[in-house]
Amino acid sequence: MQTLPETINTVAELEEVLSRPSERLVEFVKGLEGDIMVIGAGGKVGPTMCRTAKRAIGAAGVKKDVIAVDVAPLDALAKEGIKTVQCDLLDLDAVAKLSKAANIVYMIGMKFGATGKEALTWAINVTAPYHVARSFTQSRIVAFSTGCVYPVVHVTTGGSVETDPADPVGEYAQSCLGRERMFDYFSQTAGERVLQFRLNYAVELRYGVLVDVAAQVAAGKPVDVTTGFANVLWQGDVCNQALLSLGQATAPATILNVTGPETISIRRAARQFGELLGKPVTFTGEENGRGYLSNATKANALFGNPTVPAGTLIRWIAHWMKIGGATSGKPTHFETQNGKY
Ligand SMILES: NC(=O)c1ccc[n+]([C@@H]2O[C@H](COP(=O)([O-])OP(=O)(O)OC[C@H]3O[C@@H](n4cnc5c(N)ncnc54)[C@H](O)[C@@H]3O)[C@@H](O)[C@H]2O)c1
Repeated sequence: MQTLPETINTVAELEEVLSRPSERLVEFVKGLEGDIMVIGAGGKVGPTMCRTAKRAIGAAGVKKDVIAVDVAPLDALAKEGIKTVQCDLLDLDAVAKLSKAANIVYMIGMKFGATGKEALTWAINVTAPYHVARSFTQSRIVAFSTGCVYPVVHVTTGGSVETDPADPVGEYAQSCLGRERMFDYFSQTAGERVLQFRLNYAVELRYGVLVDVAAQVAAGKPVDVTTGFANVLWQGDVCNQALLSLGQATAPATILNVTGPETISIRRAARQFGELLGKPVTFTGEENGRGYLSNATKANALFGNPTVPAGTLIRWIAHWMKIGGATSGKPTHFETQNGKY
């Protein structure tokens, strides 16, 4: 296993650490048949996914393509030798022209601004998955979903588990369950092999729950601790686990919660950021003990502990803030409990 750096100082270093394939992933890729297509490759997680897959293929010494698909241009990935296809997945004819890759990581989604754009949210979160699910019945599909398909739960529950019934609050979360249902339908009727990848919060140095907390502390703003607990997972581990999950796709579909093993206390994380940044920390609200909390025991048993522990993440993020590293400027809204994004 490669050692983790003390600090990360440039975007290039960050991308390198983010996209490290695990030895287990390299072994898995050696036995994986067919190309890997990442649909929705231009978002926050997609580029890391493509790079991790490409590095795993290189390290495995096998020949297969990584094909990145998105409605947005993917120039940076194209320059790195990843095949790119610009395609609007709402266009059924365009979807039909995509090559039939044996392995699909499906990552398209619309979250922010969903309130007020309900029709578009449902189209992107349900119609686009329908197009893919009906076109790729012979493929293995890891379909990105979210812990928001569960209800908000109290921290004393230990987080929602895969056997808990879905009960999404608000149209965004409902449309995400719709996304799962499109894949479920073809999994049940056409034998499509699917894994529903219920992710709770990828985090890296430019965005994520911990970056949201660090940014509040750095700006001297009070940290709202009403939603006082969250689960996060280093984005590099998200991508390794997603690619390994291709081997877990089944018909009918398998559900997998994906997040870190710790339940992060927002208050404690804020205090740590305060110490590391040399800033006083103030709070607003009181923990009500509730949030979108997921129990990832099943994923943990399958894939082991994350390569980057929460403490290291906090230290890296504080350093990144100190050196003025770029952030996405897109807060996660993890504190939302009413389903409105
Ligand atoms: N990032 C997280 O922490 C997180 C947490 C829970 C769930 N998820 C889920 O994981 C998935 C990936 O996360 P992300 O943060 O990278 O999402 P993102 O919103 O950053 O990226 C989604 C991508 O989908 C593309 N897209 C949208 N409509 C399209 C269309 N019609 N045709 C082709 N491409 C289209 C967008 O251009 C974008 O590149 C999302 O679907 C989300 O529901 C993410």
